[in-house]
Amino acid sequence: VSEDGSGKGAAMVTAVAQRIVEKYLEPFRLSLEKLKEVSVRLKKDLIRGLGKHSHHRAAVKMLPTFVRATPDGTEKGDYLALDLGGTNFRVLYVRVVEEQQKVVKMDSKICSIPQEMMLGTGEQLFDHIAQCLGEFLESQDLKGQTLPLGFTFSFPCEQKEIDKSILIRWTKGFSCSGVEGQDVVKLLKEAIHRRGDYDIGSVAMVNDTVGTMMSCGYRDQSCEIGMIIGTGTNACYMEEIKNVKRVEGEDGRMCINTEWGGFGDDGSLKDILTEFDEVVDQTSINPGVHTFEKMISGMYLGEIVRLLLVKMAEDKLLFKGETSEALLTPGQFETKYISEIEEPDSGLENAQKILTALGLNWDPVDACVVRLVCDTISSRSARLCAAALATISNRIRVNRGLDHLKTTVGVDGTVYRKHPNFSEELQAAVRLLAPKCDITFLVSEDGSGKGAAMVTAVAQRIGGLMTC
Ligand code: GLC
Repeated sequence: VSEDGSGKGAAMVTAVAQRIVEKYLEPFRLSLEKLKEVSVRLKKDLIRGLGKHSHHRAAVKMLPTFVRATPDGTEKGDYLALDLGGTNFRVLYVRVVEEQQKVVKMDSKICSIPQEMMLGTGEQLFDHIAQCLGEFLESQDLKGQTLPLGFTFSFPCEQKEIDKSILIRWTKGFSCSGVEGQDVVKLLKEAIHRRGDYDIGSVAMVNDTVGTMMSCGYRDQSCEIGMIIGTGTNACYMEEIKNVKRVEGEDGRMCINTEWGGFGDDGSLKDILTEFDEVVDQTSINPGVHTFEKMISGMYLGEIVRLLLVKMAEDKLLFKGETSEALLTPGQFETKYISEIEEPDSGLENAQKILTALGLNWDPVDACVVRLVCDTISSRSARLCAAALATISNRIRVNRGLDHLKTTVGVDGTVYRKHPNFSEELQAAVRLLAPKCDITFLVSEDGSGKGAAMVTAVAQRIGGLMTC
């Protein structure tokens, strides 16, 4: 602040505004003590989800993935990978090269999934997928081959085996009819057979968290946790099979897809939910589902900020008490704006551009307040993720009877990758919440594509997949 009066004056106004604004932001600020409580609650939920008789009712589903090993570097071969879970659908042709210990993407194709299709029938969706795959095989001259395929399907599935995967429920923006309760591999194969012009080999079903863990596992064999903070949020980790009560066996490990997005669906996070979180939930396409995810992931963060800004404008704290049509429209404050507004150098300038584009009548203090709001919401998200990750790493440490655990987390997702200080904030909080764990964070290189191929390759290596 400059020494002249105007500088001090502006700083004063900002300080006063900040104090009033703080009243709105306070419910979003979670102390370390609160985060520890959250972590203890999740710890109990992990155990409930793993239990033979308790998992049916568990909010955190703890789904067995039938992935029993991470890569050992001897995997090789050509694979197809499909990736469905965000707004686009991708098909990839991937080669796993043993000598160089690497996964090479030969080629890929992106097909958009129109919103109507995300809410249409399952048959339409799978026909679209089969068509996109068919066009890709044609363009690569691969139609005559029956390559093994890794299908990254980023939704909660009850897996019976690696190639039998029943959708429990849609999450994020999807809600196609006739798919919940069905085997996704069967739906894919039926769609391919309806066309009759090509076929595929054995299929391995993969959650994106698992693909992320496996794609990092090729580079770092102590990678035993996969985490996504993107459109949705979730994590998987290697659990001792003897603790996975609904899978037979005593020895070895299996990767568990926690589906931590569902944490709080039984009301266990009521004390930290704000009125804004409740509105986000009630106006979503799946009220009551994925409470934790709705406080954290990219699909919802922008909306939380928008609701707060509307409330503060209505209470005459922002924009001279006026809103705009855009600000009043759900979805118009995009999550990527949060990252742009929090940029260390250009943030305030970006805020001003965004507020102008949203048709708001702002002054410089408004821009600072908006930045503070964004910072508070993204911090809460990072700290909640940290609490959950700390719970998992502590669990792995205790499982192995270790006083100190050194492990690696494979991470992906737009929020983690694109936000200017999300990863630092998350890592700092994890260090405080899991002081006995030394965690390396590795950003995955296309976990949903290359990772899915890797899961398929590992399954073939250890004989989990029959090639026909
Ligand atoms: C949602 C899905 C989960 C996925 C996550 C990240 O939470 O239910 O399966 O891993 O989004 O994409």
